[in-house]
Amino acid sequence: MTARKINGKAIAQKVRIEVADGVAEFKAQESFAPGITVVLVGDDPASYVYVRNKERAAAEVGMEGTVIQLPANASKDQLLQTIGELNADITTHGILVQIPLPDHLDEDEIVRAIDPRKDVDGLHPENVGLLFSGQTRFAPATPSGIQRILVEEGVQVSGANVVIVGRSNLVGKPLAGLLLGRGSNANATVTICHTGTRDLAAETRRADILVTATGIPGSIRGEMVKTGAVVIDVGTTRVDDASKKSGYRLAGDVVFDEAAEVAAAITPVPGGVGPMTIAMLLSNVLQAAELSVR
Ligand SMILES: NC(=O)c1ccc[n+]([C@@H]2O[C@H](COP(=O)([O-])OP(=O)(O)OC[C@H]3O[C@@H](n4cnc5c(N)ncnc54)[C@H](OP(=O)(O)O)[C@@H]3O)[C@@H](O)[C@H]2O)c1
Repeated sequence: MTARKINGKAIAQKVRIEVADGVAEFKAQESFAPGITVVLVGDDPASYVYVRNKERAAAEVGMEGTVIQLPANASKDQLLQTIGELNADITTHGILVQIPLPDHLDEDEIVRAIDPRKDVDGLHPENVGLLFSGQTRFAPATPSGIQRILVEEGVQVSGANVVIVGRSNLVGKPLAGLLLGRGSNANATVTICHTGTRDLAAETRRADILVTATGIPGSIRGEMVKTGAVVIDVGTTRVDDASKKSGYRLAGDVVFDEAAEVAAAITPVPGGVGPMTIAMLLSNVLQAAELSVR
């Protein structure tokens, strides 16, 4: 292996310490803690773990973390009523509805019901619009975590060719918006690829910074990576693994050993982008609390 392995856990820890310091300062000034409420509909075990992790992480930085669990058959009106109550609740500064929602609930409609000033996931159309017009309020946590990794690793983003594989509203599109911005942490030339892309390898081989979020393990091979590129693997897919106690392991999109032979630096899965997501979410919650007293 020639590539430097990027330690996302260590960078996330640094962000968490910054957030904890910010929370302590906020509490000293305002006499109350920033609060996040996560709404979970149904009992999907993976979602349950994510939600509990967020609650624990919030407590660790001194925030109030609350989980509201609704049954899988909760109606749209029930969920909208819960969101309405949280919008009005002055102790809740950040609201997060855990996705995916059961099929009978329209995710877009639910996200639009959240007060945009409490939308710490950055998915409300108002926040999407602010991000793309260069006035970011809340950037979705995973893309801002990726941008922070690039900064911490001293990667030259300005002027770089960035190729993103995946056009989801959660990862690919907002990351493109962030890296297209002005300023030294952005100012990149950005290409977004998807299943309609004619020659994916030709695109990825042009990337100084290659970000992949397909959710398909092994979809990015070493031969698709330019020599000296920085590779950020967002993919986090559960694959069966009988050797693990849980019966599964997490796999990225990239064939790590192949890409590590040609890249300059690469994020592992797990331990790369994943830990950054919760850290950046906490940072958004602190920002939402600050916004509420301005
Ligand atoms: N680490 C974290 O914190 C974190 C956070 C969010 C997501 N993730 C992970 O990131 C992965 C993607 O998540 P997501 O929500 O962005 O996924 P998504 O909504 O399923 O989007 C996947 C994207 O990849 C594209 N794609 C799939 N196969 C492709 C291929 N062979 N060639 C080119 N493009 C291809 C799809 O293209 P089309 O649009 O044409 O279908 C789509 O745009 C998942 O593994 C997820 O678990 C991790």
